[in-house]
Amino acid sequence: MTEPAIAIRNVAKTWTPEGRPAVHALRNLSLDILPGEFVVLLGPSGCGKSTLLYMIAGLEGVSAGTIEQDGIAVTQPSAERGLIFQEASLFPWLTIVDNVAFGLSVRGVPVTERRAIAVEMLRSVGLGDMLEKKPDELSGGMRQRAACARALAMRPKVLMMDEPFAALDVQTRSKMQDFLLQIWRDSGASIILVTHSIDEAIALADRVVVFTARPGQVKTIVPIDLPRPRPSRDARYHQYRDLFTELLADEVDRAFAEQEAL
Ligand SMILES: Nc1ncnc2c1ncn2[C@@H]1O[C@H](COP(=O)(O)OP(=O)(O)OP(=O)(O)O)[C@@H](O)[C@H]1O
Ligand SMILES: [Mg+2]
Repeated sequence: MTEPAIAIRNVAKTWTPEGRPAVHALRNLSLDILPGEFVVLLGPSGCGKSTLLYMIAGLEGVSAGTIEQDGIAVTQPSAERGLIFQEASLFPWLTIVDNVAFGLSVRGVPVTERRAIAVEMLRSVGLGDMLEKKPDELSGGMRQRAACARALAMRPKVLMMDEPFAALDVQTRSKMQDFLLQIWRDSGASIILVTHSIDEAIALADRVVVFTARPGQVKTIVPIDLPRPRPSRDARYHQYRDLFTELLADEVDRAFAEQEAL
């Protein structure tokens, strides 16, 4: 048996915002992420997908259960677990190359080596000509590539991405998916990616974890047994799409019913 890179055991999370009722975001959630595996999280809005990423990243504590990386409890953020948010979180006042180099300073890479590593990473994501640009001079797709470069420069063992391509147009999104598969293969890292797009889940995942409506639990896990690249004209692709559409419809209905009851 391969030891999991990330082991999530019976995890629950209850948010207790001041002066407002508690929110049970996740309950009794168990999931293993294997080394080098590409896992996609799919589920209705509010089922706790982002919450789970924050906890794996070590930015938030669990209310019950345990999360371990390589057998060691996650208690704080680590350079070994990178997180990319939906909107690329680059510093607007720094150039792209300084954005990537800044991450390396946090990791303790000597100042003389930072720029060279940053340049190499940016070249590998096709931004070698953009080094001295500021984030607002780049397109949305380029900003997300820069955010990927910054995360990958840290050589994380686990890279988490929260709806990274949601704001992009369809063509750019599809290019970014190809690009992501390529850097995933080269890096050997595990990837945990959240999306609302069934097509994106089928295009990318080794396994798709479908969540129930809040409080989120694993409803089912579907391995995608198709060689990559996965053209959408393939008949089996459509079978997966029908399956996920059906699995999600029930949960989205439940999530809406709960919203209306509030
Ligand atoms: N910091 C917080 N304080 C209080 N409640 C929170 C906080 N963050 C999230 N929640 C609540 O926890 C629940 C799960 O939120 P979360 O953002 O994890 O869902 P999600 O699955 O990522 O949804 P979406 O698909 O819309 O991004 C929601 O009801 C949300 O309102
Ligand atoms: Mg979210």
